Amino acid sequence: MKREEAKRRIQQLREEILRRNYEYFVLDQSQVSEAVRDSLKKELIALETEFPEFITPDSPTRRVGSVLSGKFPKVKHKSRKWSLSDVFSMEELKDWEERVLKAVGKCQFVTELKLDGLNITLWYEKGLLVKALTRGDGTVGEDVTHTVRTIKNVPLRLFEEVDLEVSGEVILSKKAFGNMEGFANARNAAAGTVRQLDPSVTAERDLEMYCYHLGEHSPQASSQKKKLSLQSDILERFKKLGLPVNKEYEVHESAADSIHYLEKWAEWREKLPYEIDGVVFKVNEKNKQELMGFTAKSPRYAVAYKFPAQQTTTVVEGITVQIGRTGAATPVAELRPVLVAGSTVSRATLHNEDEIKRKDVRVGDTVIIQKAGDVIPEVVEVLPALRPAHSKAFEFPRDCPSCGSPLSRIDFEAVRRCTNMECPGRQRESFLHFVSRGALDVDTLGEKVVDGLLEFGFIKDPADFFTLTKEQLLELPLFKEKKAQNVLDSIDSRRTVPLERFLYGLGIRFVGEQVAKLLSQCLQEQSTDSNPSPKLILKLLKNSTREDLETIEGFGERIAESIIQWIQVPYNQKLLEKFETVGLKLLWPPQKKIITGLAGKTFVITGTLSRPREEFKTLIENAGGHVSGSVSKKTDYILAGEEAGGKLDKAKELGLKVIGETEFFQLL
Ligand code: IVH
Repeated sequence: MKREEAKRRIQQLREEILRRNYEYFVLDQSQVSEAVRDSLKKELIALETEFPEFITPDSPTRRVGSVLSGKFPKVKHKSRKWSLSDVFSMEELKDWEERVLKAVGKCQFVTELKLDGLNITLWYEKGLLVKALTRGDGTVGEDVTHTVRTIKNVPLRLFEEVDLEVSGEVILSKKAFGNMEGFANARNAAAGTVRQLDPSVTAERDLEMYCYHLGEHSPQASSQKKKLSLQSDILERFKKLGLPVNKEYEVHESAADSIHYLEKWAEWREKLPYEIDGVVFKVNEKNKQELMGFTAKSPRYAVAYKFPAQQTTTVVEGITVQIGRTGAATPVAELRPVLVAGSTVSRATLHNEDEIKRKDVRVGDTVIIQKAGDVIPEVVEVLPALRPAHSKAFEFPRDCPSCGSPLSRIDFEAVRRCTNMECPGRQRESFLHFVSRGALDVDTLGEKVVDGLLEFGFIKDPADFFTLTKEQLLELPLFKEKKAQNVLDSIDSRRTVPLERFLYGLGIRFVGEQVAKLLSQCLQEQSTDSNPSPKLILKLLKNSTREDLETIEGFGERIAESIIQWIQVPYNQKLLEKFETVGLKLLWPPQKKIITGLAGKTFVITGTLSRPREEFKTLIENAGGHVSGSVSKKTDYILAGEEAGGKLDKAKELGLKVIGETEFFQLL
């Protein structure tokens, strides 16, 4: 980046961060998450490192700790409130463990959940709650005794008359947060709820507190018999005194064991009733903790492993329009690559013309992007304060970027579509769909190979996959004998496929995997043939009327209409005939056995099996069983493959029946 440009960007970022911090810390009404503020700060730090001449003393990067709002009386903490240093990868975690082992030798580790809430310190005098403070800047906090007193699991009186200072996290459950509006996440909502002037507002919302750190205390606070020499002793002592402790903490004899805890909670965090943003690792022995000491901000004996952020900020470098297999034109933001939730993202969907207008996303804009589970990353919103001068609103193209034919907007749909059946953009996507996982599942035919085949003109429709020759494949870049043979073998293994997979692979609008399944059952009922063929399917579909299709349970007008329209297109009719010519064989869906050993049984599938999980799921469902994603007491069988992880452990814990593939097929 040029100097002048960097200077301007630094100024913009600084103002935006200060404004967002003010919203969050002072007004308690931030609409963006911590991950977003962190991401902006990271960009600012990087620019200030490259151009140190632009650092000013008031830059938000110069501040340690948080702002005090001035709404509540300030109170000096009895002992310094440390924060934790963060690690974001296994590597960094292992580095930390090595440092620990080097400094103190073999030791125990306590792992705790990193609760995503607000850090609060409680003072008890002679067993009575006398003060509750926010962390503030670590030295001085704000007095929020009036609201914290209303939190139901915070004892107003301990079981013993001791003096102590204890810190913990105040959190709001996912359920309680679900009933609230105006906050970006549960953590902000918890903070906003504690930092209320009126305690009756706090009392109405279901806050909870969990204690994890002992500060100053009278000798009586550590039980007379035993000195509190371990973090785990402290947690147990808290419980005896009546203080709430999160029950998921664990003690491990070695670092290797404690990593297991991390893996478990990375997988199970969704199922917790409250949010966590990571896992905390602490050396258990207090004397060893003391040996390690502190850095300027945090203890060396503990770290927080933070789960990858689901939201972050980046810059839109371009906006392109992609043509999908149904012709839908989807605007896509081409992004400066960033790490979100553990993977690098360089593109995010902008959905459609109306969305892009509503959000007013422009080239050059700084945007918040998010990724949730397996879904495609999306642009959440623009940060207008960071917009470059002279930017222009995006104009949606009138013509298809792939074939040049006009994009039309049909009826009240939000999307524009290319209606040219032979549009190369559409074809590429439909070919990829045909070989995708839920359809024919040819894993050797990825994007690069399909692009190569298209470029050389070896495939003009999906039936051409079945006539590919080794000579053709060897012409593609990077193809050698072995790779070509692999592709041919995997195509060969798909010359006979279940009808439902084939129907789904055709890419008829609104015919997803479930609809394809229903349609294949309905076609089977209409036929007496022992095996279907592409030609038979053509005949059956041609003879179906809208009314016939609408009688299928689960089908509406929209689906029926789409299938009827599809089969009327001459191109599609010819395609089915061509599948017949190239020798594709189809299979009817397996007959549902009404009463089998699996009727009403619940399965959980875990680990790597010899075929895709989807196939096992189908087998189970066809035999009257049901597949669930999570292990519980209600699970009848765990079907476990290789490298099964947390689910298998939980199953064993619950004493459930665990079976392998061989036993599974015997059950069937
Ligand atoms: S220990 C001296 N344990 O994470 C150690 N902190 O930056 C003090 N947090 O400010 C913190 N869960 O608000 C600790 N099990 C846990 C925690 C936890 C959440 C928060 C706490 C702290 C921040 C660390």
